[in-house]
Amino acid sequence: PDVAAHRRLPSRHRFFADLSQCLFDFVIELLPTGEEMAVKENVRKLLERLIRTIEPDSRLLSFGSTANGFSLRNSDMDLCCLIDSEERLSATDLVTMLGDLLERETKFHVKPLPHARIPIVKLSLDPSPGLPLGIACDIGFENRLALENTRLLMCYAMIDPTRVRTMVLFLKVWSKRRKINSPYKGTLSSYGYVLLVIYFLVHVKNPPVLPNLQQMPPLRPITKEDTHLAGYNTWFFDDIELLRTRWHSENSESVAELLIDFYRYYARDFSYNTGVASIRAGLLKKSSKGWQNDLTSRYHDSRERNRLCIEDPFELDFNVGRCVTKDGIYTIRGEFMRASRILSNRPERAVVALAELCL
Ligand code: GTP
Ligand code: MG
Repeated sequence: PDVAAHRRLPSRHRFFADLSQCLFDFVIELLPTGEEMAVKENVRKLLERLIRTIEPDSRLLSFGSTANGFSLRNSDMDLCCLIDSEERLSATDLVTMLGDLLERETKFHVKPLPHARIPIVKLSLDPSPGLPLGIACDIGFENRLALENTRLLMCYAMIDPTRVRTMVLFLKVWSKRRKINSPYKGTLSSYGYVLLVIYFLVHVKNPPVLPNLQQMPPLRPITKEDTHLAGYNTWFFDDIELLRTRWHSENSESVAELLIDFYRYYARDFSYNTGVASIRAGLLKKSSKGWQNDLTSRYHDSRERNRLCIEDPFELDFNVGRCVTKDGIYTIRGEFMRASRILSNRPERAVVALAELCL
């Protein structure tokens, strides 16, 4: 009976239903296994024990995709070490000491970067039966803003897990396969793509799919002390259980419709030249943030920082798209156009369209 009902749908709706189902199936296959997550948690605990031999009052917390619900099989592990005591070593000294310790005590390949802008220790582990692709992990220090932005993304994912997680996970895979997910090579980080998705669902879709968690009225009065971190306001509405009872989206589009619209919006409608995507405040002007590309400057080669402008949710002076170069934005937009074209042709079989998209 379901099959018959499905056949009676207008072809447009049939295509959306098929494509949505394909997207769920595609993404489910790429989620990390329970075993992988357990191995990663054990690695975190082991590393935390070792770090405590140097700094007894430290905690090692995971952030990024392992903590926000957007992780794919074999994604790297981002760890942040917080030290709760007043007197502590500098990040540079810690990175050097921790690097030595891990080299002596563990099987990890260890690469300490004590003099990087943000000092970190890079670790990797060779493949083993529990982790057929090995493990890659970065340990940073005192990066409390990253822990908070991870929590913000996780809350957005929890409001509408089906649509938000499916879109984000698919776009992560797609951007990696299409080679437009390398900030070091002039394209955009995963974090940047996630912000583009949330911006689209909060500010572009009408009615919105997600509320703006940073602009909701707080439940009780808040003071500057509880909400500010390193001078930035990190407050957002984080009682998701309560939110679920009070807020519900009027938007009932399927994942497939949202994805197609997402591609069309970033292929055609987003104002790359003058606009800044801000999940906190909607569409802003580059000029209001002082983020214009100064093409008349004789330094304009090195000033490629503001081709694609995405405001960090908390560090408002920070452009998450700063790594994107002129070539990078050209390639990324070209990919949005290609994806939009493939999907709007509404090919006979959704599964073929997805395969072509990620080819
Ligand atoms: P994959 O590693 O590709 O699976 O994605 P991911 O979700 O872990 O994202 P990514 O590695 O790009 O970023 C990991 C975390 O680092 C993010 O969740 C942020 O908390 C933080 N982060 C990454 N890039 C930036 C940035 O440019 N600015 C800030 N403030 N934080 C960032
Ligand atoms: Mg990561």
